[in-house]
Amino acid sequence: MKKILALLAAAALVATTFAFAGCEKKVEDADANVDGEAVEGEGEDKEAVEGEENAATEDEKEEEKEEEKEVAEDDGKLVMATNAYFQPYEYFEGDKIVGIDVEIAEAIAEKLGLELVIDDMEFNSIIAAVQSGAADMGVAGMTVTEERLESVDFSYSYANGVQSIIVAEGSAITTVDDLYAEGADYQVGVQLATTGDIYSTDDFGEENVTRYSNGSEAVLALQGGDIDCVIIDNEPAKALVAANEGLVILETSYADEDYAICVKKGNTELLDKINVAIEELTAEGKIEEIVAKYIK
Ligand code: ARG
Repeated sequence: MKKILALLAAAALVATTFAFAGCEKKVEDADANVDGEAVEGEGEDKEAVEGEENAATEDEKEEEKEEEKEVAEDDGKLVMATNAYFQPYEYFEGDKIVGIDVEIAEAIAEKLGLELVIDDMEFNSIIAAVQSGAADMGVAGMTVTEERLESVDFSYSYANGVQSIIVAEGSAITTVDDLYAEGADYQVGVQLATTGDIYSTDDFGEENVTRYSNGSEAVLALQGGDIDCVIIDNEPAKALVAANEGLVILETSYADEDYAICVKKGNTELLDKINVAIEELTAEGKIEEIVAKYIK
């Protein structure tokens, strides 16, 4: 079993300073870091496909928009990038995005005297949005990993995550070990760019992993027999199994991890404020209260 230690988040913190160096207002290309991997099913990206003649002016407009967003925090707004297909952390209830991360982010924004703005996007776009300044922070049940620490900074961890395995009832896969068994040739479904994707690609090879835009699409493919299991965080796994017939979660899990909030690398001013807020919210019992509301 893999263990991503809280140490990573702690290490990231030690590296930060309390210097209130004004944050850079550099405009970078928000799409530059979105990797080109194929994703099954339709995405939620609302980006319009632009005609070539319009490309230059559209680019300029984009840049202006980026610049506006860049100063979001100064505008009294705290923009949170997320992917709201991850119950109970962030999900749609009607047309409203709710969940543990949303409430924690709201509580942080309140402490910072800012208004929370939620920007729903593909999970795979969150880090790029934070790097470009299009969003101030990524709050998405996001696991702290060494690789991500090269692109963004992470706050203190506010929750633990477990990667679970969902299979169809009566599946030949009964424990995590079956996936590693000699001669095993299973198709694993994951949400693109999540740790489930990264670890299983590592363990079982590119050809044994099918990536989906979100967990629901992966589960639909499992029900349809296209894949043999879905590897996804345990709480979303529970929600998916409860909402879909004929599925079970294996008792043995695949990996343990820590969730934290990411900010643009070097934005120690915001990171420090978020960390102080997390510490206060923890001490006040507020985080526990929010989690208890969603996880019984
Ligand atoms: N914890 C996993 C990761 O960091 C999955 C997070 C997915 N979050 C989401 N909002 N869809 O990769």
